[in-house]
Amino acid sequence: MNIILSGFMGSGKTTVSKILSDKLSMDFIDLDELITEQNNMSVSEIFEKFGEKTFREFENNAVKSMCDKQNIIIATGGGTLLNADNSALLKKIGTVVFLDVSVDTVIRRLENDTTRPLLQSKNKKNAIEEMLMGRMPIYRAAADVVVDANNDDPSITADEIIVKLNLDK
Ligand code: S3P
Repeated sequence: MNIILSGFMGSGKTTVSKILSDKLSMDFIDLDELITEQNNMSVSEIFEKFGEKTFREFENNAVKSMCDKQNIIIATGGGTLLNADNSALLKKIGTVVFLDVSVDTVIRRLENDTTRPLLQSKNKKNAIEEMLMGRMPIYRAAADVVVDANNDDPSITADEIIVKLNLDK
């Protein structure tokens, strides 16, 4: 079974996935990294050149390419699970773990970030609050397991996932 990490930007999906991958000796794929490699462009460049719609198509193709994977950890992007097709595909191949973070945590972690094209508005705090609140019900509905990820030590979050998934036996 695969482990799929979902959650808002700044929830720690990539960092926690890497730690989980070490702790559980499982391979790890980051969907944003895969899209970046496949297109030879950063996520920001893809948004700038082609727009969000095209990025979402690339993202959907990346999800489809996961369907034959077994026993890996997949870090999704913050928007991946908002697409019902992606959500259905990923839930079929693995357990979706939602990394739950508060608006304050995201603001603290991403205040100076320049790599998220969707958060480059003048009022970043408002943008984060509006987006996170709007997305929250969808993240929750798509989740098999919810883990509090406000702790700034990602190793603790990884350990909590291991316990919740009963992998500590
Ligand atoms: C997005 C999140 C990003 C990336 C893109 C869109 C989103 O991934 O896929 O900028 O819609 O929330 P991270 O959650 O890894 O930052």
